[in-house]
Amino acid sequence: MREYGKTQDGQMIEEYTLRSAAGMEVKCISFGGILTSIRVPDRLGRFANVALGFDNLAKYEAEHPYFGAITGRYANRIGGGKFSLDGVDYQLFQNDGDNSLHGGRVGFDKRIWQASESGGAVELKYGSPDGEEGYPGNLDVSVRYSLDADNALRIDYSASTDAPTVLNLTNHSYFNLMGEGEGAIYDHVLSLNADHYTPSDAGQIPTGEIAPVAGTPFDFRQAKTIGSGQRSAHRQIVMAKGYDHNFVLNRAGMAAGELGLAARVYEPRSGRIMEVWTTEPGLQFYAGNFLDASLVGTSGRLYRQSDGFALETQHFPDSPNNRQFPSTVLRPGERFESSTVYRFSTD
Ligand code: BGC
Repeated sequence: MREYGKTQDGQMIEEYTLRSAAGMEVKCISFGGILTSIRVPDRLGRFANVALGFDNLAKYEAEHPYFGAITGRYANRIGGGKFSLDGVDYQLFQNDGDNSLHGGRVGFDKRIWQASESGGAVELKYGSPDGEEGYPGNLDVSVRYSLDADNALRIDYSASTDAPTVLNLTNHSYFNLMGEGEGAIYDHVLSLNADHYTPSDAGQIPTGEIAPVAGTPFDFRQAKTIGSGQRSAHRQIVMAKGYDHNFVLNRAGMAAGELGLAARVYEPRSGRIMEVWTTEPGLQFYAGNFLDASLVGTSGRLYRQSDGFALETQHFPDSPNNRQFPSTVLRPGERFESSTVYRFSTD
C-alpha cells in the first residue's frame, strides 16, 4: 500500500498492489474501488497493462466513463430514474437523459472506500446511507479483490441492508488485450455463453423482451471478431452506436452461487486470452462506442472509439421495472453475494 494522492477536498487516497506467483500485477485505489492497472503477460512473457485508465487521481475525480470502477448502487440503467418497491415510489437522479445510470449523480465509483489488506487480498468497504441518490435503506457493501496463483483476478461482492432496496453491482473495467492505448479492439475474437439478450429502446432501456441471439449480430456462441458486428446495420446496433447490450447468460442446471463461464476473448497479435466467469445472470458487452478521443489514458495516448471493451457482470438493466427479470431486490436479513473472475492466459 502507498499513498496515491489527495482528493480536491484533501482526503488521502490509498493505492494497493496485488501480485500473483505467476507475475500478474493489479493496482487498485480506495477512490471508487477503481482498478487502475492490470498487467498480464503476452505469449512471449512480455507484460502489458490491459486495463484502460489514468495516471492520476484528478482525472478519476473528473467526469469519465467509469474506467475500472465499482459501479452502484445500481449498475447500468433504470428507466425514467424511478421504480416502486412494496408500493412506495422512488425517484433517482437522472444522469442519462431521463434515466439513471450507474448509481446517479455520485455513484459508488466516486465514493471513498475504506480499504485494508487481508490475507493477500484487498478489502473495500462502503456504507451507503439511506436516501443516498434516492435509494432506500442503509446499505453496507464490501468488495474483495484477490489474485490466485495463476493469472486470475477474483472479485467478491457482498452487501446487506436495513430496509428493502434494489442493488446491482459490477466492476466497470475496460480492456484492450493488446495493451491499454494500443488502438481499436475490432480484431479481438469474442465468444459469449448466451443464447439470448435483452433488446433495448432508443434510450437503451430494455424493452422487456428476452430475444434469441440466433441469426443476429448478437450471436457470439461461436467465436468471432468484435469488428464483424460492431458496424452492422441491425437496428439494435445502430441505436446503441455499436454493441452496448445485456446478454442473458446460459446457466441452466447451475446452482445460484456457482461460477459459470460467461465470455472468452482472444487477441491474436499478443496471444492474450481473457475468460470471464461469474455467478451473475447477465453480462453487459460494451464495445467502447462512446469513447471519443477526449481523454488521455494512462500511458499518454488518446482513447478513441472502441479502444477498449467492457464485460460487466451484472443483473439485467432496469430490473426494478421488469418483474420477469431476475430480482434485484435486497431485504433486511438477506445477504447479497456475487463473484466474478477474470482469468488470463495465452495461446
Ligand atoms: C453502458 C454504456 C455507457 C458506459 C459508460 C456502460 O456500462 O452500457 O452505455 O456509455 O457504461 O457510462
